[in-house]
Amino acid sequence: MIIAPSLLAANFGKLAKETQRADASGADWLHLDIMDGHFVPNISFGPAVVKTVRPLTKMFFDVHLMCSKPDILLEPFAKAGAHQMNIHVELGQQVTSLLWKIKSLGKKVGLAINPPTSISHVQPFLDQIDSLLIMTVNPGFGGQPFIYETLPKIQQAYEWRRERGLSYHIGVDGGVDFKTGAECAHAGADAFISGTALFGQRSLRAAVKKLRKIVEATDFDPPV
Ligand code: DX5
Ligand code: ZN
Repeated sequence: MIIAPSLLAANFGKLAKETQRADASGADWLHLDIMDGHFVPNISFGPAVVKTVRPLTKMFFDVHLMCSKPDILLEPFAKAGAHQMNIHVELGQQVTSLLWKIKSLGKKVGLAINPPTSISHVQPFLDQIDSLLIMTVNPGFGGQPFIYETLPKIQQAYEWRRERGLSYHIGVDGGVDFKTGAECAHAGADAFISGTALFGQRSLRAAVKKLRKIVEATDFDPPV
């Protein structure tokens, strides 16, 4: 089970301290949300910020590109220290070449899918990815409520992975807390991206430990 705090929910006035807090928390990945003000109606931060926090931790950097033109950003984020880059399946025609480019940069390949998009859209790419990021809110902002209608997508992704003998992570992102995290684990998720529910706690370390305990203890109920 992967626990990944999202830096979007950190105090932006203390990004270095917050990164060190994440580093000491026992979490597996640090999730970095990149918003371009076009693919989503918000702007977050760019490669310069990732490069600045990179020397502060050895954590696996999971970069989530909510961007209309990730093509021009892959190399800068690779250079800034990303380990994995997720692009969105909603980009349609661009997807195949983007996945290929991430791989050719020597990085782990992630594919994200928005709540309104049918899970069938990711099916052709499953053998090319290391991680599937199922959005459980409409991307753009932290702190939104979990959308329960996305749960069957997790089950379907799990089923396809088993049927085809693949090994991609099944990540969930948005509104993931101690309750919804357990429900995602129950449906078959194994990577839990969480901003507000983790960074909002006084002790990030205790929150990561609590979320890990909950998702690991959850009785997994694979679909038949
Ligand atoms: C949403 C981002 C998420 C966000 C999650 O647009 O992709 O990664 O940081 O934040 P919470 O956990 O607060 O919903
Ligand atoms: Zn994200």
